Amino acid sequence: MDQQQLQYPKNIQTKGADSDGTTVYKTIDELWEKEIEQNKDKQDNKWYTLADDYWKTVEPTIEGMLGGLGYVSDKDVTTSNLFLEEFFQNKHGQTNQRPYTMKLNRGRAMDCGAGIGRVTEKLLVPLFDKVDLVEQNPTFLDQAKNIFKEFVLQREREREKERELVEKKVENYFAVGLQSHDFNKHAIKYDCIWIQWVIGHLHDKDFIEFLNNCADSLTDGGMIFIKDNVTAKKSFIMDKQDNSVTRSHDHLIFLFEQSNCQLVKSIVQPNFPKALLPVRLYALQPKPKQNVSSPTTSSTTSL
Ligand SMILES: C[S@@+](CC[C@H](N)C(=O)[O-])C[C@H]1O[C@@H](n2cnc3c(N)ncnc32)[C@H](O)[C@@H]1O
Repeated sequence: MDQQQLQYPKNIQTKGADSDGTTVYKTIDELWEKEIEQNKDKQDNKWYTLADDYWKTVEPTIEGMLGGLGYVSDKDVTTSNLFLEEFFQNKHGQTNQRPYTMKLNRGRAMDCGAGIGRVTEKLLVPLFDKVDLVEQNPTFLDQAKNIFKEFVLQREREREKERELVEKKVENYFAVGLQSHDFNKHAIKYDCIWIQWVIGHLHDKDFIEFLNNCADSLTDGGMIFIKDNVTAKKSFIMDKQDNSVTRSHDHLIFLFEQSNCQLVKSIVQPNFPKALLPVRLYALQPKPKQNVSSPTTSSTTSL
């Protein structure tokens, strides 16, 4: 996406703090001005290398993936599973945004920012025939491969079948940042693109472009699911430790509107510890072709 400024509406042009509370950005534009040093080659972009450097220091475990909150993993997966199940073809569900025909198929899913494959193993493999992982840290992908291989060696008989299944179903391991993933080169169509706890690592313009690439890579009836932290207030938080930004719900809705995707349903993850930021799940589908337009200054809507 070109570097022309996004025209943020007022409710998103708020001030924001970094995770130490030491720097305050007057606006979201100021965040990007301060934090993005855009070079020609996106791989050299400070925004992405700082995050990459951080993740290289993190141990390849579920605790590492979830910042020491491994205990939320089961609840996280249970809610995601219920949310996703609703969209499968022939299921009857309710969306709170607009009438929707359930057309999601069980063919192929992509796990974006997959880490060591926690979501792949626990959520996507049981639901889809094939799964691809996209993750910028090759050590995490190696660990995912090891975990999926080791599964069959373990003695726990009742889990063995499930684990063999993982090894059989996972096909591609793409060691690349989401902002650089070449969807056209691989020309794979996905029924489900799952993007969990990683979008804060993409700055706004790359996020919109990534969503557009995802939309172009969906099968008929395919959907994009995003699960991530949102801020409790209207402002944003810049995390200086892992170089990511946590956006407000309104901010995300605005970015969806700027993309070629439309929101179908959103819920808040229930039963998470109160001390944590709210976690939201979003289901998106491509906008009907005639509605697809370039980014504009539209106002945001809340669910
Ligand atoms: C909080 S972990 C979440 C992992 C996984 N989605 C889960 O829920 O278990 C964030 C992951 O995003 C990866 N990541 C960070 N920036 C990325 C980028 N630009 N492209 C792809 N992956 C990225 C990190 O290496 C890490 O594995």
